[in-house]
Amino acid sequence: MKLHPQIERLNQIGIALSHEIHLEKLLALIVTEARSFTNADAGSLYTLEKEQLLFRIAQNDTLDQKGSRSSFKPVPIPLNTQSIAGYVALNGEVLDIDDVYHLSGELPYSFNQDFDRKNKYRSQSMLVVPMKEPDGEVLGVLQLINAKEENGQVVRFPESIISLTMSLASQAAVAIRNARLISYIKSLFEALIRYSASAIDARSPHTAGHSRRVAAYSAIIAEEINQLNHGPFKNIRFTRDELERLNYSAWLHDLGKIGVPEAILDKHLRLPAGTEEIIEERFKHCAACLVLEAALAGDPRPQEITRPQREALKEDLERLKNINRANWLPDEDEAFLDQLQARTFQDAEGERRHLLKDEEMVYLTVKKGNLTPEEYKTMQGHVEHTLNIVKNIPFTGHLEAVPSIAASHHEMLNGTGYPRHLHDDQIAIEARILAMVDIFDALTAIDRPYRKAAPPERACAILQSDAESGRLDKDIVELFVSQRLWERITEK
Ligand SMILES: [Fe+2]
Ligand SMILES: [Fe+2]
Repeated sequence: MKLHPQIERLNQIGIALSHEIHLEKLLALIVTEARSFTNADAGSLYTLEKEQLLFRIAQNDTLDQKGSRSSFKPVPIPLNTQSIAGYVALNGEVLDIDDVYHLSGELPYSFNQDFDRKNKYRSQSMLVVPMKEPDGEVLGVLQLINAKEENGQVVRFPESIISLTMSLASQAAVAIRNARLISYIKSLFEALIRYSASAIDARSPHTAGHSRRVAAYSAIIAEEINQLNHGPFKNIRFTRDELERLNYSAWLHDLGKIGVPEAILDKHLRLPAGTEEIIEERFKHCAACLVLEAALAGDPRPQEITRPQREALKEDLERLKNINRANWLPDEDEAFLDQLQARTFQDAEGERRHLLKDEEMVYLTVKKGNLTPEEYKTMQGHVEHTLNIVKNIPFTGHLEAVPSIAASHHEMLNGTGYPRHLHDDQIAIEARILAMVDIFDALTAIDRPYRKAAPPERACAILQSDAESGRLDKDIVELFVSQRLWERITEK
């Protein structure tokens, strides 16, 4: 059996509405479809929020054709029966008005002529329908204006169309409710991501705010790429969904740091916390033992006789403390540490002890940075933790790649990255962006106790050298550096 064409059309509209999950687009679609369904010249839509009707959409063919629409800034309408939309929202009934300029004075509502006056438009017939959910709750009001005959003449909206329009409006209400629900779930989820990432970043002052900035820089770069019509990015356009995917990946990229002990995450000396103090006590003990040894040997002035040795010990301790704070270990310091470790002293019980223990040497003799190879491995393990955590979030559709993008932020184009040592095309553009901004932020954002934050220009030079050596994507680096994109973070 063939359906009546209007019912069939209504059916198609219902399907279209149920597919649109972005609220703003959905509201515009509702007005467009309802107008085409009723052949209305104009239409507007209000949503009901906190006892007010908010004006959301206005469409008007006549004004668009004339290109003469003035900037009309409507104010929210209070929810009472004095306005047409308010009356419909409160009573939940449809108004089919022949001419809004000839309303009976006995009616509670009247027509507000502001829009018409400002735009030199003449509203005449109007069909005002509540957008009502199946349980009767009104979510908003749809106002269709000036039904047109084929010859362009404005007529009253035909009665035959009212019930179908009501049906369309309730489908619209259900679609609005769904879109709101999805947007609510999404904002809950996003807040959860943001707070979790920020809390993990805040475990160390070195990383506080890092994920937020990585997300902001990434968005700036992707939006800049979207503007480019020439050069290496001319064919790359990040859709709204892809921007969302990049944003989630950026926020989540270091989530795995939750699995890295604070002692490593927040380590800013070579020796683990408290070890320098233990070594200092040992040096003092050694100095005291020198005095004791001299006294036992019968020296009448043990303090004086051991002074030069004790002064030398003090100097050695100072040098050791400086090494503990250094980011780089020169060969002469390494030789100094070897000599120090070879030295022993006799303690009060007569036992020979080393000035430095083997395990302390492991920490002190790191060539670059302040992490031992073992600690470095633990630190790098955060990427695997990120993957394991994030892949358990049931991302679907356009977000399915979030775990792999997030867990590729330390991959380098020449295969020197980790954990999978990916190369070139194996690394998505989103992960390349993350890799670059991750380095930039680590260099610029935070003053470390013994290393000042790099100025952006210095950080850019490092990024360029990383691009030169084939680690970072040179087009992304070039775009970031030449457009000084980091400067836009404050604007965001
Ligand atoms: Fe990381
Ligand atoms: Fe990071």
